Amino acid sequence: MEKFLRLKVELNGMYFIFILGTAGSGKTTLTKTFQEYLLDNEMDTAIINLDPAVEHLPYTPDFDVREYVDAYEVMETYNLGPNSALIASIDLILTKASEIKSEIDQIEANYVLIDTPGQIELFAYRETGRLIAELIKGNNKALGLFLLDSYLAKEARSFISLLLLSSSIRFRLDLPIVNVLNKIDLLRDDEVDKILRWSENAENLIDELGKIDEYSIDLVHLLIENLSSNLIPISSTDGKGFDELYAEIQRVIAGGEDYL
Ligand code: GTP
Repeated sequence: MEKFLRLKVELNGMYFIFILGTAGSGKTTLTKTFQEYLLDNEMDTAIINLDPAVEHLPYTPDFDVREYVDAYEVMETYNLGPNSALIASIDLILTKASEIKSEIDQIEANYVLIDTPGQIELFAYRETGRLIAELIKGNNKALGLFLLDSYLAKEARSFISLLLLSSSIRFRLDLPIVNVLNKIDLLRDDEVDKILRWSENAENLIDELGKIDEYSIDLVHLLIENLSSNLIPISSTDGKGFDELYAEIQRVIAGGEDYL
């Protein structure tokens, strides 16, 4: 707790935190648990739901994109399949940009958590997704939390693939990214420690992979030696690791671009 207080940064204005990750990585659950954590520590927090296809939310959003675009209505109205309806929905969000912007401008909070759509590729890899992120954050500071599902990350090749995805999203959205190892309650302590050691030293990861070609060795070095943050282990269901996550966010806020 002492560390938490020492690292607390006085915020000027609002800070936008985009919650990103593959389908089912735990974005919505983390959004809820993190809001509870911030409120318990007396920080004003608001939530934006950007997923037009989510059916049930465990929190009450301050802004809900489904009030403007609902993927299930889009599917019926335009007679589309689920994936096409999602793509169309994300594109349709932009047609409501000015209404959405004026509603979001009403939000007052230290932190605004943004729960992003289930399929990350539909949000991060389409131009509209990037434009929506720009629209929402305006001139405020922002970062992304990229969630790595522990159950996938415990296999070395999956771990590397998730880090590649995280780097690609960092590049695509042009946001500082904090990598978060979520769902650690599903792993033994020694499994979590092993993943953390991989994230600290490329050689540990290369040893785990066994015989690999030069390209893969170079890639692992590039990824591990240029991580934009420490890998933070958490469990959104048990509430573990949130002091450390908050401290890492503070370090990124305090360090700005120099930190990255
Ligand atoms: P989509 O938006 O549908 O892609 O999912 P999401 O990334 O928002 O994930 P969500 O929060 O819906 O969680 C997916 C599943 O993982 C749910 O069954 C959650 O209960 C579970 N889950 C989320 N966080 C944790 C965690 O820390 N530990 C465990 N054991 N399960 C978790």
